[in-house]
Order: sequence, then C-alpha cells, then structure tokens
Amino acid sequence: MLATIPVTKTNASRVTPELRDNSPFGAVFSDHMLVADFANGKWGEPRIVPYGSQPMAAAPAVAHYGQGIFEGFKAFPRPNGGAVLFRPTANHARMNNTCKRMAMPEIPESTFVGGTHALVQLDRGWIPEKENSALYIRPVMSPTGDQLGVRPSETFRFIIETCPSAPYFSGSVDLLAEETYVRAFPGATGAAKCGGNYAGSMLAALEAQKQGFHNVLWLDGIERRYVEEAGLMNVAFVIGGAVVTPPLGGTILPGITRDSALTLLRDLELPVEERRITIDEVFEAHATGTLQGAAGTGTAAVIAPLGRLRHKDREITI
Ligand code: COI
Repeated sequence: MLATIPVTKTNASRVTPELRDNSPFGAVFSDHMLVADFANGKWGEPRIVPYGSQPMAAAPAVAHYGQGIFEGFKAFPRPNGGAVLFRPTANHARMNNTCKRMAMPEIPESTFVGGTHALVQLDRGWIPEKENSALYIRPVMSPTGDQLGVRPSETFRFIIETCPSAPYFSGSVDLLAEETYVRAFPGATGAAKCGGNYAGSMLAALEAQKQGFHNVLWLDGIERRYVEEAGLMNVAFVIGGAVVTPPLGGTILPGITRDSALTLLRDLELPVEERRITIDEVFEAHATGTLQGAAGTGTAAVIAPLGRLRHKDREITI
C-alpha cells in the first residue's frame, strides 16, 4: 500500500526512545502525516509529507461554524517488528457517519485505511514499546476556504497525524454527575465525533476539575436522570453480575472500545445489558452492595476504572 501513496520523507527524524515511550497522550507528533484535499466535488490523491503546520484561511469556516470532525484509533507493535491497527475499518465507518451528519464529503477507504497503513509503516519507529502505550492515530477534517455564508463548505482538507501515547488517564477516574450543562439531545449531534461536542463540554469539565474530579458524568438532556456517557468515554457498570451500559440511541458516541468490550463479554457468555440506567440506580446498587465495579471505555482512555462518583450531595467510591 505504501507504493500507491506518494511519500515525501523528512530528512531529520525526531524520534527518540524517550519521546516514543514516555510521551503523555497527544503531546508529541511523529515524523509524518497524510494529507488529502477535497475540491470540485471529489477527493484528490492522498500524500504523505513531513509533519508540520498547515496554512489556514483568514476567515476559516471551521472557526465560524464548527464544521470540523475527527476520529481516534491506535496502532500496536508486533514482536516481529511489524504493527497492527485496532479496528481501522470501524473508525472509518464511524467517521463517514459523522461526515453525513455534518454535511461533509465521505472519505474513501483507500485514503483512510490504506493511508493509515502506509503512514504507520513509515513511522513504525514511533510506536511505543512500553506496555499499555500505543501509537494514537488522529484523522481530522475541516474546511479549507474563506467563507461567512452559513452553508457546508465546498473544500476540505483531511489529515491523519499520529502520536505515541500513554493511556489518557493513569489511574481510576473520578466523575461528577453534571447537573447544569447537557452534552446532547435526541436529534442533535451527540453520536457524531465533531469538535463542537467537545468544545461544549469543556466548561463543565473545568468546573468539575475545580471540585477535584477528573471530568463529568453526563446525564440525559431531558429528565437529567439517565446516565449517558462520561467526558471523553462511554461508561459501564457491573451490577449484580451483569455489565450494564447505556444503549446507543443517537445521544452518545458509538464507542469502538465499548463495542469491542461488549462483543468480548458476549463471546465469553457473560451477562450484558444495554439499557437505560438512572443515576439513582447506580447509587442504590452501591447502597445495597450489588455495584461491583464501573469503568469508562474509549480509545484514548482504554478501559479506565471509575473511582469517586458524586451526584448532588451524595458521593460513593467504587
Ligand atoms: C478518543 O478516545 O480517541 C477520543 O477521541 C477522546 C478524546 C481524547 C477526545
């Protein structure tokens, strides 16, 4: 696949064992990136170039109206010197669903999946050797032109960049159930991986952090009773021996780590319930001793055990 994508190699690789194995999530980018442009109703051929800044329009449509989307998945080292991508076709399908929701052009599989193979093969030396770390792959797409009219852009740039990364959280994750802000409503963009969902969540996360939590646990936007997801990840609880997780229904991100965990649990014939769960049920299960565990799942977070959980004036440690 490398042969079909033109490559301009850097003449000064920045990789060191320290950067490769000890970089926190998303702090350091590897040597190369893939770039493809959409114009005149079609995608141009992708190319791999040295990682670096991109020129930006002075009136960037992404800054005005937020038509910017992304994905996240990982490459892991193989003992034979090769590498393996974790479910790239699932991320490709999800990104194209996000494209549809955000009125953006879908990305060809040869660019997304074939391009990632070529990029990871070239930057194989950046894949961490440290246990639990991986090369985080971040496809991102945004408009390229100047535009103030409120309509979908007609030109876009798609980039795939990669970072050697440790898991996002280093220990258990403390969450504050959010009472003021909501992340999503039925019919809105909650199931899409668009930057606006994350921008809208940052104030809530900052306020939770001021109170000593890592992030928020989002509740549904209508009744503020049902658990939806956590900041940056899906959530699941082990209650009375079953893994219980909120169902996909348009307001939560269809997590690929979530799907992988549920598939493995079902293969192992362990009880799984995808159903609505109220925040009261979680606290009651803790009070009666049936809450056996809880975790967040996500590409960056991997599977992160939940620690403290606060809702209004009550708090439990799981
Ligand atoms: C991921 O888990 O890959 C995410 O995109 C979450 C976050 C770091 C933005």
